[in-house]
Amino acid sequence: MTTNRLLVIGNWKMNLDFVEAVHLGQQIGVILKNRPAEHTDIVVVPPFVDLRSVTSIVDSERIAVDIGAQHVSANDNGAFTGEISTSMLKRLGVTWVLVGHSERRTMYHMDDEVVARTLRAVVASGLNVVLCVGEGGDVRDNDEQNDFVSAQLHSALGGLDEKYIEQVTVAYEPIWAIGTGRTAEGEQIRAMTRHIRSVLSAMGMAGRRVLYGGSVSPENAASIITEGGVDGFLVGGASLVAEKFLAIIQACDGCYAGKR
Ligand code: 13P
Repeated sequence: MTTNRLLVIGNWKMNLDFVEAVHLGQQIGVILKNRPAEHTDIVVVPPFVDLRSVTSIVDSERIAVDIGAQHVSANDNGAFTGEISTSMLKRLGVTWVLVGHSERRTMYHMDDEVVARTLRAVVASGLNVVLCVGEGGDVRDNDEQNDFVSAQLHSALGGLDEKYIEQVTVAYEPIWAIGTGRTAEGEQIRAMTRHIRSVLSAMGMAGRRVLYGGSVSPENAASIITEGGVDGFLVGGASLVAEKFLAIIQACDGCYAGKR
């Protein structure tokens, strides 16, 4: 089953201790109660140490968001100091995991093989995965972004058992647009979204949601949805401010009718 609904994910990265995280969760809850999102699914992705507090507040205040984790180990358990397993996340009520974020790929040596293994561990455990792909500025300058992203998709998703396909979402995050204030042009996003959809379709994964991430803001969200043809966003910085995050969600909701 595929879905028509849009999806907005707030990646809090390494920001907010558990007290601050609860506060942001509560603010999001208040705004959503006044103005629920009709056509947009919402996921927040706090740091590991905040997960328990955020899931508690979301449950007790019935806030309409799902909870994700920023990373997980590809291993089930054992001597992996500093790592967290899928079963630990599930026990906390986490339902989504980001895999292959460019910050993990570049700063923590997460190569394609580890991305593929981690993605398999996530879906096998029943969690939803957001596979992050995207090229650096040098690749874009050489106009090699399509081949680069195809290779990332094939290496992460190639041979994935059909039964897991519904758990997969792809986020296109060009590295040169992350945290830089430099958003990709609508035309660039549209071309890449089309490319990703065609690669996924050739792999038997048509209809999966394709998100965009990289300096998304309340100001540019609506135009990226309409011009970029994406199914939602993976938001970093702007997801740390409840009003901005909700404004992005409302921009998506407002675009829904035009997009479908
Ligand atoms: P920014 O929205 O801060 O550019 O971050 C994007 C991102 O990396 C989300 O995962």
